[in-house]
Amino acid sequence: MALVLIGFMGAGKSTAVVGLAAALGVTPLDSDLLLAARFGHPLAREFELRGEESFRAAEEELVCELLTGAAPRDVVALGGGSVLSSRVRDALADHLVLRLDVDPSVAWERIRTDGDGEERPLARDRDAFLALHAERAPLYEELGDVTLLWARSASGDYPVLLGRGLLRDASRADSVWPLDRSASRSFCITDETVWSLYGERLSEPAGKFAIPPGESHKTLASAERAWTAMADGGTTRADHVVALGGGVVGDLAGFCAATYQRGVPVVHVPTTLVAQVDSAYGGKTGVDLPAAKNYVGAYHQPAGVLVDPELLDTLPAAELAAGWVEVLKTALIAGGELWERVSAGGDVDERTILACARTKLAIVAADERDSGGRQALNLGHTVGHAIETVTGYARYRHGEAVGLGLLAALRLSGLDGLRAHVRDLLRARALPVSLSGDEVDVAAIVVATARDKKRTRADTTVPFVLLDAPGEVRVGCEVQPEDLRAAVEELAV
Ligand SMILES: NC(=O)c1ccc[n+]([C@@H]2O[C@H](COP(=O)([O-])OP(=O)(O)OC[C@H]3O[C@@H](n4cnc5c(N)ncnc54)[C@H](O)[C@@H]3O)[C@@H](O)[C@H]2O)c1
Repeated sequence: MALVLIGFMGAGKSTAVVGLAAALGVTPLDSDLLLAARFGHPLAREFELRGEESFRAAEEELVCELLTGAAPRDVVALGGGSVLSSRVRDALADHLVLRLDVDPSVAWERIRTDGDGEERPLARDRDAFLALHAERAPLYEELGDVTLLWARSASGDYPVLLGRGLLRDASRADSVWPLDRSASRSFCITDETVWSLYGERLSEPAGKFAIPPGESHKTLASAERAWTAMADGGTTRADHVVALGGGVVGDLAGFCAATYQRGVPVVHVPTTLVAQVDSAYGGKTGVDLPAAKNYVGAYHQPAGVLVDPELLDTLPAAELAAGWVEVLKTALIAGGELWERVSAGGDVDERTILACARTKLAIVAADERDSGGRQALNLGHTVGHAIETVTGYARYRHGEAVGLGLLAALRLSGLDGLRAHVRDLLRARALPVSLSGDEVDVAAIVVATARDKKRTRADTTVPFVLLDAPGEVRVGCEVQPEDLRAAVEELAV
């Protein structure tokens, strides 16, 4: 099967086909470019000279030739309208179809601002453009076997592939693997639980290192053991790490990849809700110190992320609930449709996972290294991390601690009504809404909060992320020590 990219104008197919083909070591095949070469002039000129019907006929011919001749692992991008042809749709059946997902308003901006200077006949008017997107979106959804998000960041772009059943077996995983396996061997870092459940879904790695499950193993000692296993197994700079697991494995494996021989690529295969909606994207990697969480680490963007929501079917209910807190956090940051859906309760489906991934990737694309907007993602985490540290990374799951941190952040934001609503949402999932009953030292949590690594000078307070409303986030907010103490004390009653 070839990988065939479909999607609307401005989705970024031309960029993605080049990036994906380079990663797989093949030549990109872009039907728009090939068609323009066949015409001997730009596509818009052809539209003008002979009209849309004649253009579509020529496009159908070329695309069918391309699809019939495509070899396994070829990467082909199709013009946005080409899938209107039933012949093209039939020809797609032999290939794996990646639907490139894009927010229509982002697509419009992209076409206006970073177009190739070529006028697009179907993108002259914003309303007509958005209406055409709405009309075609169901067709793209129906045809796509897998959703592709093309993650952009200052230090490199990468594919995020999302689809139920994407990793149902090793051959399917191989068909979407975002690196050239013939040139790069894989070294898998995982945890024992995940390996026993899902190890066989990936092709046999050249080497493997598994930690016992849990946050208490996200340490430098684990990293050292992983580096040693990589060195003993002869892992070279041409090889890559696979992070198979939840956020703990992802952070540890990403850190090992960032530092082993000064950096090798990492492919994330997230297996928890936390990892599928949040931690697998954006390139933050690291380990905990006894003094504070995530205190040692590096930015290291993935070479690709493969997301199969089916893997969540085995996740224990308590882990699913804890992971849902990151969904809630993302929805509070994003506002709009995602917030409406999440605040209404209900299960997390593929659409919600996709919306969370999209939200995070957009934030990271604008501020990869946390100097501004990315700090929004820390909503609820300042107090949440402090709770985790003070309780020795053992009492609360990460998501549970962040849920408590969200309650503190909403109190500090002065949003009493929203805090009450969020509290109900947490309670409905049997998540903790207070520290009561636990022997937790409130003063120690306040002290640990002050040690948060978002602080930039030893003598300054920690900048907080606060909300004005869902979708309206303020970063770098100063919080008075007595207000912080009151917000944490409130959790203890
Ligand atoms: N780097 C980032 O941007 C970022 C963002 C958010 C969170 N994080 C980090 O993520 C970590 C929390 O991640 P987590 O909640 O995924 O925890 P985790 O990785 O510890 O996984 C939770 C538990 O679920 C088990 N498990 C994993 N996948 C499973 C599956 N499919 N079926 C059955 N069991 C499964 C694991 O073995 C483990 O016991 C924290 O360390 C946090 O700091 C990082």
